[in-house]
Amino acid sequence: VIASTQPLLSIQGLRTWFETPHGMVRAVESVSLDVGVGQAIGIVGESGSGKTQTFFSVFGLSRGEPGLVAGSARFAGVDLLEGLSTHVRVSGDDRAPTVVRSHPHRWEKLHQRRLERVLGREVALIFQEPRRSLVPYWTVGRHLEQVLRRRNEEPSSAGDLLDRLGFRNPARVLQAFPEELSGGEAQRVILALAMAARPRLLIADEPTTAVDPISQVRILEEIQRMYQETRPALVLISHDLAVVRRMVIQVVVMYRGRVVEQAPVGLLHDAPPESLHPYTAALRESQHRRLEGLPIVPPPPEDGPVAEPSGCPFTRQCRLRPRLGVDVQQRCRTKMPPLVQIGSSHHVACWGVQP
Ligand SMILES: Nc1ncnc2c1ncn2[C@@H]1O[C@H](COP(=O)(O)OP(=O)(O)O)[C@@H](O)[C@H]1O
Ligand code: SF4
Ligand SMILES: [Mg+2]
Repeated sequence: VIASTQPLLSIQGLRTWFETPHGMVRAVESVSLDVGVGQAIGIVGESGSGKTQTFFSVFGLSRGEPGLVAGSARFAGVDLLEGLSTHVRVSGDDRAPTVVRSHPHRWEKLHQRRLERVLGREVALIFQEPRRSLVPYWTVGRHLEQVLRRRNEEPSSAGDLLDRLGFRNPARVLQAFPEELSGGEAQRVILALAMAARPRLLIADEPTTAVDPISQVRILEEIQRMYQETRPALVLISHDLAVVRRMVIQVVVMYRGRVVEQAPVGLLHDAPPESLHPYTAALRESQHRRLEGLPIVPPPPEDGPVAEPSGCPFTRQCRLRPRLGVDVQQRCRTKMPPLVQIGSSHHVACWGVQP
């Protein structure tokens, strides 16, 4: 009974840092979230907010090796970060930390091994750039056959699969090489591969960002259909609130490596701005403006290495703070707001939005 209430993926206090020539990039900082069996969650936030690395780093998928991956992450009972923390130590002061690894090679091995344990069997991924996940010198047919064989299924069902994904000419697509497909076609092939593997968790990272508008609609419909038919847990990552809105029930909003809000999608849509995190409210407003063809006033992007802010990282762009009392404003500047529950399934990290 206990096992069935355990989340499929549970990330607690995750920290993912990259050491770069310009300093430490804190890509993910103190992120905790759960994905239940068959649950669909959305991850939103502007580019660079740590959405991708939250998931890539726990599965050992980061490009370029992170300097630090710490915290805990469990997938279906498997400890994904097992042993990693025993070889690593953070030293220096908090504003200019360094990472010291006692056995760099052991660390790298442990880091890589995670990937092999779950990927391709229980976890499927769809990236923004679909061609990157295909082998350039394999035809689509060969890709599908590999996956179907692994599941002891008839390779002949590869054509059926493409048929179901609405390819008008499955025979042509089966013989095509990745470079002969359009971006939208390639993404639908990736989806077919993901479906064939019948994963327990599907992570779709900006699946519609690099494709044309018609393919975008199609891909979302396909993900939705796949979700309804096979009920994998689904993590849909997008910088676009509108993309996740129609697909998921629970949304996690990230800003500069942190979770700033977690709420049911309907609430993010309907709640008055003052009951949302000011960043979420700004994100929502900028997306409304875009949909209505009005000029967008986005919060300025902050990318690259950043010193750990002593207070709330959103202080400078926050439109709520000037309206708060002096003592609260002072707190915004000096203390990091913790993520607290303010309603049913609603968590916010903001000193100005309290229960
Ligand atoms: N391999 C890497 N080396 C150095 N910095 C990285 C690397 N990958 C990601 N980052 C940095 O980590 C932060 C979060 O990145 P990412 O998770 O890709 O954001 P998002 O998916 O929200 O756009 C960004 O500042 C990004 O520049
Ligand atoms: S903690 Fe303060 S500065 Fe940060 S978002 Fe809330 S009101 Fe704005
Ligand atoms: Mg990303």
